[in-house]
Amino acid sequence: MHSLARDLARGFDPAVLMDEAGMPPDPWQSDLLQSTAKRHLLLCSRQSGKSTTCAALAVHSAIYDPGLVLLIAHAQRQSSELFRKVLDVYRRLTDVPAIVRESALSLELENGSRIIALPGTEATIRGFSGAKLIVLDEASRIEDALFAGVRPMLATTQGRLIALTTPYGRRGWFYEAWENGGAGWNRIRVTAHDCPRIDSVWLDEERAIIGDWQFRQEYLVEFVDTDEQFFSSALIEAALDPTVRPLWIS
Ligand SMILES: Nc1ncnc2c1ncn2[C@@H]1O[C@H](COP(=O)(O)OP(=O)(O)OP(=O)(O)O)[C@@H](O)[C@H]1O
Ligand SMILES: [Mg+2]
Repeated sequence: MHSLARDLARGFDPAVLMDEAGMPPDPWQSDLLQSTAKRHLLLCSRQSGKSTTCAALAVHSAIYDPGLVLLIAHAQRQSSELFRKVLDVYRRLTDVPAIVRESALSLELENGSRIIALPGTEATIRGFSGAKLIVLDEASRIEDALFAGVRPMLATTQGRLIALTTPYGRRGWFYEAWENGGAGWNRIRVTAHDCPRIDSVWLDEERAIIGDWQFRQEYLVEFVDTDEQFFSSALIEAALDPTVRPLWIS
């Protein structure tokens, strides 16, 4: 039976909830789950467990701080994948509020909480307000305009915003927030080497297969320039720098 003490511990500490769901959190996962910061940027390797951790946080929020939780990604396929992780975590727990309504993209609990997965279009998200928690999965792929539309949803609730992603070039709101966004963000950086479930021999093989450029982006979480950019960001910045004298002027 789930004891009152255990329930209290789970209520105070989302890391206990993730543990109860069968996944003892890694140190960085505990740090995120226990942080009281309102805004988080997670720059994490592929398969490091970023979606699962946010799924645990979404479940914790829905159980212990009833209200609206939104899962947003650039494409519905991605946000519904995150939603599946939410359901998976929820089903592994005991002594939780009953599910009142459930679909492929949303969950409603008897305490009034709703967890909803949305596609990344501004028109779709406009209808929602007053969220307790907004999770932006693969955030570096989310358009600047969408991000601008998301923030007002937290205005009245003092809600939390968590953006999780691998890097995607030196551009876009996530890159800007990570590099120049100031102290208002709690930043967590996790490379594949920080993840105990990713084998180092496997990583070496992966590097040989996908090549250095992609490996640095996907597993070492570096903001390397995107493939399609003909000139690197450094070259473009140098070209725009008024202190650099063009070679062709004598
Ligand atoms: N603390 C943990 N203990 C055990 N398994 C974990 C833990 N964290 C994550 N996992 C498992 O690791 C795998 C990858 O997790 P997840 O999908 O959350 O990673 P991700 O960083 O979002 O990956 P991707 O880059 O593919 O989106 C999943 O099978 C998940 O269940
Ligand atoms: Mg993921």
